[in-house]
Amino acid sequence: MSLLGIPAVRGRLRTVGMGRRHIARAVELEREAYPTGWSRSVFRSELDQVGAGGRTYLAAVEGRRLIGYAGLWVVPGTDGSEAHITNVVVDPERRRCRVATRLLVGLGREARRRGVSAWTLEVRASAIGAQALYRGFGFSPAGIRRGYYEQGEDAVVMWCHDIGEPGYDALLDRLEGGVSA
Ligand SMILES: CC(C)(COP(=O)(O)OP(=O)(O)OC[C@H]1O[C@@H](n2cnc3c(N)ncnc32)[C@H](O)[C@@H]1OP(=O)(O)O)[C@@H](O)C(=O)NCCC(=O)NCCS
Repeated sequence: MSLLGIPAVRGRLRTVGMGRRHIARAVELEREAYPTGWSRSVFRSELDQVGAGGRTYLAAVEGRRLIGYAGLWVVPGTDGSEAHITNVVVDPERRRCRVATRLLVGLGREARRRGVSAWTLEVRASAIGAQALYRGFGFSPAGIRRGYYEQGEDAVVMWCHDIGEPGYDALLDRLEGGVSA
């Protein structure tokens, strides 16, 4: 942190395809983000399904350091029209710097490229900040899954049905440019 309490810039932020080299740090970030985070083997399995398995994983890196990642799964049996956001995590020291926004913009562009017309996710009922992030991308709450998470926490199911619309590109451009929509 800088003296003013604003996270200091430690290097140029880049968004790249997530790979096995990122897993060790990702497991640490999972432990900081969730009561029971994804393990090394879950990451390996997810990354093995990039491409033909319908998964896309993006990593935000500063220099060589992983500071965030996010995943998309184009759901089979929906003719490629539905996609799930599988996970989004940002290093606690890098939050509120629009890292998650950049990652989701990248996933949104990939989903549109693949012809997805609706995307969805589950988010902890207590994760108010994450829900605000998703609302910015046009997601709305559509239901609750009771006791979905460990320790019985509910999940809020959110959907966005606008991702295939022509205007959604403009929303992604605005979000990427840091201008609120
Ligand atoms: C949720 C999470 C991914 C957000 O990452 P981030 O890089 O800090 O998010 P951004 O900086 O891109 O935030 C964009 C906007 O989302 C909203 N937002 C994000 N975090 C917020 C928070 N803690 N409180 C309120 N609003 C928040 C704000 O509107 C923010 O814009 P602003 O900073 O200009 O006000 C991060 O807090 C995290 O890793 N949390 C733990 C894991 C998690 O809950 N993931 C979601 C699982 S579904």
